[in-house]
Amino acid sequence: MIDLRSDTVTRPTEAMLESMREATFGDDSRDGDATVQKLEALAAERTGKETGAFMPSGTMANLVAMLAHANRGGEVLLEDGSHTLNAELGGIAGVAGLFYRGIHGKRGAMDPDALREAIRPVTRYHMGTALVWMENTHNRSGGAVLPLAHMQAVYGLAREKGVPVHLDGARIFNAAISLGCAASEISQYSDSVCFCVSKGLSAPVGSVLCGGAAFIERARAYRRMVGGNMRQAGPLAAAGIVALETMVDRLVEDHQTAKRLAEGLTRTDASLCDPKDVETNLVRVDVRKSGRRAAQWSADLKSKGVLVAPADLYALRFVTHRHISAPDVDAAVGAFAELWKKS
Ligand SMILES: Cc1ncc(COP(=O)(O)O)c(C=O)c1O
Repeated sequence: MIDLRSDTVTRPTEAMLESMREATFGDDSRDGDATVQKLEALAAERTGKETGAFMPSGTMANLVAMLAHANRGGEVLLEDGSHTLNAELGGIAGVAGLFYRGIHGKRGAMDPDALREAIRPVTRYHMGTALVWMENTHNRSGGAVLPLAHMQAVYGLAREKGVPVHLDGARIFNAAISLGCAASEISQYSDSVCFCVSKGLSAPVGSVLCGGAAFIERARAYRRMVGGNMRQAGPLAAAGIVALETMVDRLVEDHQTAKRLAEGLTRTDASLCDPKDVETNLVRVDVRKSGRRAAQWSADLKSKGVLVAPADLYALRFVTHRHISAPDVDAAVGAFAELWKKS
């Protein structure tokens, strides 16, 4: 099977497995664990923040960030298609007790005028804007990268209004590779940031939430509240350290295979995607012209040995990663082309 469903399918490297065997087994929530602390320090350094807290998942890191930043009833402003609004089961309202307002955006970047219009103070009629949220890379926009100038403008506006900013940087290192900058140059435009080691970086589990010391202290309490204390998490953190130290630079290969995939698909039909839009390792493919739904495409491709997840009614999301080579991409493109001809 050529598995293009997600970069979360990546398996740990030999070096990760070795480091997991040798990791410490301290209790992270009691006396602390040296390996977890090392990962948190490394994550803070890479994102340019004061400190960090290891979390079981990106979803929990985002939820804890909301809880630690905002009081119940406050409003979160974020782009309409953001992962946390669309794929995190409504934790923003159901658990954190926050209102939210989706702001129209282009390739994941909120319309600045709409954002300016939406930010509002606490009055007797409104609880006010509690948090502004960005996502880079942007999942539902096909791994689109928010330009640094956009992030700077959003951060500037939020600061002007005294509102904190969180960055969902689940794939921030893909964004950094694409922009040719350090991750910290991206996260400088946020007060807190989380990223996942469990995606293209190949570690089995985990995300780190980074920010100022007081914020992270609150985050640790909320992490406990939502059941995220991991006790002897050293082996997981050990894999995360190897991920950060050895797996970031190779992400460029995933971006190249994604581009190759998009170029191959457009040779079949130009309506499927635009290779120019492929900035990282995600390729969003529009199958509307075929008249068949994405779920049907996903099932048909599976019968040809290619696994792809539907992203919408008529959109598929292909994700390249460490286990996808150029010949895999060519085989997937070939299977797709055959089915397209038939449809
Ligand atoms: C942008 C973004 N944020 C958060 C998450 C959630 O991460 P996790 O699957 O670790 O909960 C994902 C997962 O794909 C994501 O793409």
